[in-house]
Amino acid sequence: MFSKVRLRRAVIILASGFVIVAAAIAVNRASQLNAAQQLPQIGGHFALSMPDGRRVTDATFRGKWLLVYFGYTSCPDVCPTTLSAMTLALDKLGPLADKVQPVFITVDPERDTSKIVGEYVKDFDPRFVGLVGSPQEIGTAAREFHVYYRVRQLGNNEYVVDHSSFIYVLDPNGAFVRLLTGDLPGHQLADELRKLMS
Ligand code: NI
Repeated sequence: MFSKVRLRRAVIILASGFVIVAAAIAVNRASQLNAAQQLPQIGGHFALSMPDGRRVTDATFRGKWLLVYFGYTSCPDVCPTTLSAMTLALDKLGPLADKVQPVFITVDPERDTSKIVGEYVKDFDPRFVGLVGSPQEIGTAAREFHVYYRVRQLGNNEYVVDHSSFIYVLDPNGAFVRLLTGDLPGHQLADELRKLMS
């Protein structure tokens, strides 16, 4: 018998796929526009809070290569896969990883408290910084990076957050330099970063 739950899950996966493809097209258009206008389309600015309450902006991390990823801690599969790949990439980079700062920004400000986000990222790698903010602050940061996210109700007071999945690379001066897909395996991510950093 075809289960209702399974059907619903298939629909969710399909819908997420559309979202990612739509986001990829949008980003691709944006980068074509960049080339034509020579203007940075992805701003790369954010003003958010560390898990300990400290206020930070992108400028706080100048001097490091920033790997910015937007997701949420109850994400069933996409976020854990990407964060694992980022962790593996840090390991592969060896001493070069000291010049890299991975940053996780929640797109679920209602549920992702600073405590939850702090513990979540530390479980992947203590080098991660997890950032939280008010819904407005998260919205502003997401617009800067052209991140798509939308709450989708599942019933029974449960919801998922559909979101685009890209790793944004900012150089030590804070300039956006590269967009990497969230499904890149860790070793390839490490290779890409090594190339950028050399
Ligand atoms: Ni996710």
